[in-house]
Amino acid sequence: MKSLLKIESLSLADMQKIMAATVKIKQSRGRHKTQPLAGQTWALMFSKSSTRTRVSFEVGIRELGGDVMFLSANDIQLGRGEPIKDTARVLGRMVHGAVIRTFAQSDVEEFAHYSGIPTINALTDDEHPCQILADIFTFQEKRGSIRGQTVAFIGDGACNVANSWIFAAAKFGFELRIASPKQFQPPKEILKRAGGNVSVSADLKATAKGADLLYTDVWISMGKEAEAKERIKIMTGYQINAALVKLAKPGALVMHCLPAYRGKEIDDATLEAHADTIFEEAENRLHVQKAILNWAVS
Ligand code: CP
Ligand code: NVA
Repeated sequence: MKSLLKIESLSLADMQKIMAATVKIKQSRGRHKTQPLAGQTWALMFSKSSTRTRVSFEVGIRELGGDVMFLSANDIQLGRGEPIKDTARVLGRMVHGAVIRTFAQSDVEEFAHYSGIPTINALTDDEHPCQILADIFTFQEKRGSIRGQTVAFIGDGACNVANSWIFAAAKFGFELRIASPKQFQPPKEILKRAGGNVSVSADLKATAKGADLLYTDVWISMGKEAEAKERIKIMTGYQINAALVKLAKPGALVMHCLPAYRGKEIDDATLEAHADTIFEEAENRLHVQKAILNWAVS
């Protein structure tokens, strides 16, 4: 039994095991010989909105033979203040695994500790590990090993998705360049903890130059809505568009974790020009997460 709490604490060996299993799981969709979640019920406990993560986990759990229940934090006592450690000890006696989307990383870790069941981080304020595993899987499916390649992250360099990219860089051995305005650059302490070949700059043109992958995420992450006006003002210009793509390596991939806000972090024409990659990236959430579930119960 294992939990997936953050890229920071995941070994390269485990991530490679998950990636290798994903190739087979993707190829054999609809024809799986084993049902590793047969007889199990998993809970999805979400305190934030979701389309991709929710649907891919619900479908994935069922395709692996399990049953699934969606628990919106507003509908369970957690939303009225029941402590996470009590919720964990109740659910741990009733369900076989949990997938949690919430604010504090410590809540997911506390849940894993008190529940004693496999627990998967489906996004916190600190990390989005399932997303980054699907992103790297998508890159490698299209371009081969990511080791030695250059990834340019444009936009909010201090968000959960950027953090997971930072922790992935040293482990997978790729160069990560982050272009963000000063106020939204990753904390130095995170860069120090992660190590690896990660650079941060306010210069998005230099960041994009010669990159193998241009990547972005929303400027206003869930929970930051009160800062929307300020964020838009400061991050305007930090956009993936045709001019920026021209600076990257010819044939560079463009990816976005979605949902996308056209005209902000990416423009419509660039998103549509790279829609095949971006929506395959979204589809790969399903395949990668089935591999994660399989890994978690083995
Ligand atoms: N990328 C992602 O996690 O999407 P959702 O918020 O729709 O789950
Ligand atoms: N950084 C974004 C990711 C959405 C999938 C957020 O936290 O809202």
